[in-house]
Amino acid sequence: MRHKILLVDDEEANVRLLKRVLSDEYDTIEALSGQDGLNLLKEHDISLIITDQRMPGMTGVQLLKESLAVRPDAMRILLTGYTDVQALIDAINSGHVYKYVPKPWDRDELRVTVRRAIETYELKQRNTQLVQDLTGALSQLEEVSLGTIRALADALDAKCDYTSGHSLRVSQYALLIGKNMGLTPEEMRDLELGGILHDIGKIGVPESILWKPAKLTPEETAIMAEHPVKSAQIIGDLPSLQKAKRFVMHHHEFMDGSGYPDRLVGDDIPLGARIILVADAYDAMTSDRPYRKAIGHERAIQELKKCAGKQFDPKIVEVLVRVLGEGAEPNPHELPASHLGVQLASIDPKQTGRQFLREAERLARQDKENSPAEAKPA
Ligand SMILES: [Fe+2]
Repeated sequence: MRHKILLVDDEEANVRLLKRVLSDEYDTIEALSGQDGLNLLKEHDISLIITDQRMPGMTGVQLLKESLAVRPDAMRILLTGYTDVQALIDAINSGHVYKYVPKPWDRDELRVTVRRAIETYELKQRNTQLVQDLTGALSQLEEVSLGTIRALADALDAKCDYTSGHSLRVSQYALLIGKNMGLTPEEMRDLELGGILHDIGKIGVPESILWKPAKLTPEETAIMAEHPVKSAQIIGDLPSLQKAKRFVMHHHEFMDGSGYPDRLVGDDIPLGARIILVADAYDAMTSDRPYRKAIGHERAIQELKKCAGKQFDPKIVEVLVRVLGEGAEPNPHELPASHLGVQLASIDPKQTGRQFLREAERLARQDKENSPAEAKPA
């Protein structure tokens, strides 16, 4: 399918030039003013808007802002020949400009930027579709069934294999904490469901971000940070999952209000969400991830204690420390039995994901090739 790109510039020669560079790969539609551009957006299914900043009537930034109401998913590129600092700040703050391209632009660079923008657009479309499909499937159910939970956890497992067992382990650590805090069986059930489902929204995060073996860019971090809301969306309106849904929605809120999505503070964060956060952090630190190795029990506990009060609820950290101890190895402990009786067949909580192992092996080989003198025996 050929994507449609809207080109907006008050100088006709510039529009023609853009068209010449892009029209062999894409369908282009041209406008000579912001207002004309907006009208065309209403009529055409546009994937990308490329606009000049300085135009009489409506500036490029204004056009891009207004275009959000008509085509929220379209990508946006701003061209400007002026060092218009305010326009740039506005464009960046509005958060919806994919790239700012200074004029005069280079045709090869512009082609690459446009190709990337279109790729990102396609990814976003696919992910939106996935989340919609799942949400739709769930909303048709009246009661949650164990089969549904298993299907969801398995779907996430298939998507980001390195998390294999992560959700199950988080729910088990959460239960361990909950039991030692004296939660009721009903609260334990919601906690367990929340633990299993907390990261289900990562199904909507592109593999290129989930699997990136390096630090994420600010844009990628923002996409990643949408996952609690997406998780909650997927859970939807199922009556039996409403408590678990609140835990899931807020499992990245920090005690000092610096978390997301709602920057809740202290006890305003649901208890279940505070417990899942600690369980999640403990499991993340004691498991290998694409971007780093596990740091082990002792250091994980030190980290939790260091961040107690700021990120974590100190009462919850205290409970986990009391149960697992502070030594090199966790105290012998028995994980509480499931309150759902759920067996996640495809997940072995002790097994690291296969894809992650392959990726780690690939990186190790690369390291070896780059520095043969320091290569260690396998
Ligand atoms: Fe998460």
